[in-house]
Amino acid sequence: MKKETFAEPLLAWYDANKREMVWRDQGDPYYTWISEIMLQQTRIEAAKEYFVRFTTELPDIDSLAKVSEERLMKLWEGLGYYSRARNLKKAAEILMAEHGGELPADYDKLLKLPGVGPYTAGAIASIAYGIPVPAVDGNVLRVVMRFLKCGEDISKMSVRKNVENMLMAIMPERPGDFNQAIMELGEVVCIPNGAPLCESCPLAPACRSRAAGCPEEYPKKAEKKPRRIEKRSLFIYQCGEQYGIAKRADKGLLAGLYEFPSEEGHGSKKALENRLKESGVSAKVTAMGAAKHIFSHVEWHMKGFLVELPEDTNLVEWRRILPGESAAEMIFVSREELAHTFTLPVAFHSYLKQILRGEEK
Ligand code: ADE
Repeated sequence: MKKETFAEPLLAWYDANKREMVWRDQGDPYYTWISEIMLQQTRIEAAKEYFVRFTTELPDIDSLAKVSEERLMKLWEGLGYYSRARNLKKAAEILMAEHGGELPADYDKLLKLPGVGPYTAGAIASIAYGIPVPAVDGNVLRVVMRFLKCGEDISKMSVRKNVENMLMAIMPERPGDFNQAIMELGEVVCIPNGAPLCESCPLAPACRSRAAGCPEEYPKKAEKKPRRIEKRSLFIYQCGEQYGIAKRADKGLLAGLYEFPSEEGHGSKKALENRLKESGVSAKVTAMGAAKHIFSHVEWHMKGFLVELPEDTNLVEWRRILPGESAAEMIFVSREELAHTFTLPVAFHSYLKQILRGEEK
């Protein structure tokens, strides 16, 4: 790769075509950090609204370090991968305690912060501080592998490292713009699914896979294992105007967030009614339909049941015998609290929405 055929035409293209982003060109390293973490698993368009809400309420590192866990989860609700938000807070605490409340202008120090890997450290260092280091994400890998017509497996660390070294060797004077330009090209021109828009690409004249007529065959990636499918029955317990939710375990999937109690397998309404009757619970059961949620390694195929308990139920006693793995730890909360105080991950939103719309009956 050469400066003249890669870095220079790319920067010229970026100057003429870069999109407006609320966090871009603001000169605030905090904005760069928050946006880069949000963008790791979220599309730019979707992230914009979250970013504004997040930084309006938490405008700096100090406020992030002090925010309550509950409020932080609420601000992150819908973005998924909640450990990203927890790591942001942990890192903010470290920055307050050890770095004078600022993001260090140092790649290796950034890399030590929770939730900050080589990509994010490179992005903050180059975009916020103009430090000449690469920031290699999936977009960058795709652009480079296509440009070089290189068939190596991009899930390998060694391949990523080679790409970092190649980019470092041609790093121009504006490292932040250079890194963002490659990402942006990957997002709008050298796009992942379907044919890339080579007619609009500033790198087309020297692109090897374009010359060979097969850019969409790159990059190559090792086959992923298919996701495990887990069938779950969800129980939405209602007592008067209150609904039962339980806090998930501190480790594993959706750690520490709230859920509707559930169990493995797909039961029927009739079977659930019989189980409740046998335990001496008189409740009305309504099927709430099916919903699916895809995580990175597992898919939940859910069936939801609304279980209306009599208003005079002694919930503390009864929750121990109700179906659902976390039913015994349930607390009962209002719709208002479901909407504004507790965080239920998107996996449960199809049922949550039915409740909040009052459609469950
Ligand atoms: N994707 C992730 N971070 C980005 C950035 N700073 N510019 C363009 N696309 C991005």
